[in-house]
This record gives sequence, C-alpha cells and structure tokens, in this order.
Amino acid sequence: MTPPNVGEECVCYLFLLIYICILDIMSSVTIFSQLTSKTLMSSSVRTISCSSRFKCTTTQQPLKKTALNKLHRDLGAKMVEFCGWDMPLMYPTGVLTEHMHCRQKSALFDVSHMGQLRLHGRDRIEFMESISVADLQAAQENKSKLSVFTTENGGIIDDTMITKKADSLYVVVNAGCADKDIAHMNNKIAEFRASGKDVAMELMGDSALVAVQGPETERIVSQVLGRDLSKMEFMTQMDMTLDGIDLIVTRCGYTGEDGFEISVPNKHAEQFTRMLLDAESGVVVKPAGLGARDSLRLEAGLCLYGHDMDETITPIEASLAWLITKRRREQGGFPGASIIQQQLKEGVSKKRVGLLSGIPVREGAVIVDNDGKAIGKITSGTVSPVTKQYISMGYVPTESSKAGSNVTITIRNKPVKGEVVVMPFVKTNYKRL
Ligand SMILES: *[C@@H]1O[C@H](CO)[C@@H](O)[C@H](O)[C@H]1NC(C)=O
Ligand SMILES: *[C@@H]1O[C@H](CO)[C@@H](O)[C@H](O)[C@H]1NC(C)=O
Repeated sequence: MTPPNVGEECVCYLFLLIYICILDIMSSVTIFSQLTSKTLMSSSVRTISCSSRFKCTTTQQPLKKTALNKLHRDLGAKMVEFCGWDMPLMYPTGVLTEHMHCRQKSALFDVSHMGQLRLHGRDRIEFMESISVADLQAAQENKSKLSVFTTENGGIIDDTMITKKADSLYVVVNAGCADKDIAHMNNKIAEFRASGKDVAMELMGDSALVAVQGPETERIVSQVLGRDLSKMEFMTQMDMTLDGIDLIVTRCGYTGEDGFEISVPNKHAEQFTRMLLDAESGVVVKPAGLGARDSLRLEAGLCLYGHDMDETITPIEASLAWLITKRRREQGGFPGASIIQQQLKEGVSKKRVGLLSGIPVREGAVIVDNDGKAIGKITSGTVSPVTKQYISMGYVPTESSKAGSNVTITIRNKPVKGEVVVMPFVKTNYKRL
C-alpha cells in the first residue's frame, strides 16, 4: 500500500470527526475534547484504513468527471478521488444526516462512475451465461438480476446487475472494475465470435446514472416522472421518456431501501437530477455521497468489491451461493464451474459473515483462534448510524460462521470479542408487491 497523501489525510480527518460525532451521540455524556485528543492520537492507524476504503485504484490523471460534477460543487460537496473519478464524499450536512435521510425519507446518489453497457446479438444470453453465473434463459423480459463474473478458479472478477431486455442485455458494473471487465468481455466476445456466434458490446459512456433510495422515493419519483410506479416490481426495469429525455428506470439499489437507479443521457443529467432534488412533494430528496453509500450498504449486508470480495474469493465463500440457480448449479458452463460445484457439494473452509463487536473494527483487522493464530480477517467495518452498534463483515472458518459463534479480532495487538450475527444488520425495505 502506498502511503496516503495529504489530500487523503484530510478526508480521513473528516471521517474522524464524523466518527467522533457518532461516538458522541452514542455516549451522550462523553467529554468531547477528551475523546477528540484520544482519537486523534491513534489517527495514523485510521488514516490508512480510511484512505483505502475510498480509493480503489491507483491515481489516474486527470480525474474523470461525471455529468453531475458541477452540480456536486454547486451543492457544496466535499469531493474525493474514487477509482479515478472525482466524486462527492459528502455534502455540507454530513454523512450521518445523509445516511438517516435515506433510511427515513429519500436520498440521491450520483453513481455515474459505474460502467453501463449493452450486449446485442442473437447469442447474447449464451454469451453472458458463459462469463457469469447468471441464469438469463428463464428470466422474464425486463427482469434485473444480480450476478458475478467468475475466473477459471471460481474467483469473483466483479459483481454486476444484468437486465434482460427484449432485444439486448443492459449491464452495470463497478467503477473500479469497469476497465478490467470491458477488456475481459472484449476478449471473450472475440473468442465467441470466432466460433461463429453473434454478440456485440455497446458502451454507454454518454449516460449518467442516478440512484434515488429510501421509503419516500416511490412517491417522489412517481410524481417527477408523472406515472404511478407503485406496481413496478423490485428488480425490474422500464424505459420511459420525460420531456423528451430518454430514461432507463430500474427498481433496485445498494442501500437496503426501496428505490430506483435511473440512467439518463449526460446532456440531460443535471436538468433531470435537479428535477428530483427540487420536487415539491413535501419531502426533500437530499443528495448523499460515497460516505453514506458505504455505511448504508454495510448495514444492508451488501458486499463492496475489492473489499468484501475479489478474485481470490468464490461466490460460495462470499455467501453468495443464492445467486446461482438450480439449473446453473447442475449444468455449470460458467468459468470456475467445477470448483464452485465442488464447493456447493462439499462446503467451503471460510465464509463471509456479519459481526458485532464492543469496539470499532476496521478493514484489515485480523481474526485469530484461541492460540492467537490468524484464521480470518475483517473486510469492512463501521458504526451503524441506525443501531449504533459496531458492525463489520469478514471471513471466518466455516465452523465459526454460524450466528452466535464467538470470534476474537485483534485490534492494535489487543484481543476483542466479536459475535457472528445474521445479516442484514438493519432490516431491508425492498419493494414487495
Ligand atoms: C419491457 O419494457 C419495455 C420498455 O419499458 C416495454 O415496452 C415492454 O412492454 C416490457 N415488456 C414486458 C414483458 O413487460
Ligand atoms: C459466546 O460468548 C457468550 C458470552 O460472552 C456466551 O454466552 C455464548 O454462549 C458464546 N457462544 C458460543 C456459541 O459459544
């Protein structure tokens, strides 16, 4: 890991302040100044963990800007580098307020840094099934599926959302993996076409992606789009137009709340986003940044690529076996299928679990056995703004992965007790018809 630069340290101090605020709320009588000096003394440790969380690739100059960059600045966002993009970490009200606004009302996130693409061609479904564990044959038109691309060893190249359209597949991939995924797909497409098959990729670099999440979202987005979305199922997609602007509206999200991700052409992105933010519905949609996005997804028990999963971890180890349908388990046909099928049959030696601990644990903290031997590690951790508990995710040996199991986490050479719990940490609020 490269040493963090000054800019990143600033981000970390902001995080420390937020973190202190949360601690302060939790222990209402704590003396603030005492806590501040104590926390700052150990800042060197946290500087590293903070910066690694909000930085997923090496610096790429100049930073890429989404179509909403100016809007973020107008709104007073604190911007940070994220995967080569200049993105909002938070707005002036702060991460905690943004987080709670999403849980209670409605929050808007710019997720245009994620890669959007379309696959065309007669054999697009066969192609997608040859590089991912997705089951698209049986999927209904307009249905969206969460899936993963796998390596020949069964590791996870990226997680993705795939929507089966009448004449194409619409695919969204992670920002930090977009270049890698596209290169991988181009290679596979070349092989596929060489064998006489028909598939082609269209990158949607001209489109922004806006996520609106939270219990009031359905009402507000329905009002702005001028159509009743109450009957639209979770994980389905619709194409719409608004004042001549073409939109792709998917009911999905990454916060555990009901909501929509809306793809909009770059040239209309700011205008459309302002319509959402200015909607006169009695409830304000507040912009939220990467900070809130991370704590929300962790409360919801959702993985962050590069942290909670990567190419060394299989979907079974990542507790994502539910992504693989019966047909795909039986028939295989995706990269790493034999390894994954064997793991499904015989089990795995480690598993991703949710943990609660008495003190905060961070990514990289080591989980040890009774003799102090390393047996796992923490991959994400935060204070839950909703439950006020220290929540984390990590990998433990399968024998310790049942809810109620006790594990020992080492934090600054001190053993800390962690208890395995069922995720999500906060009840999810997905739309059910
Ligand atoms: C799928 O979505 C498109 C665009 O919104 C719509 O025209 C079509 O009728 C939908 N198909 C089904 C089967 O619902
Ligand atoms: C975990 O520890 C608690 C006490 O700290 C104990 O009550 C509980 O039985 C332990 N759980 C297991 C599965 O050993």
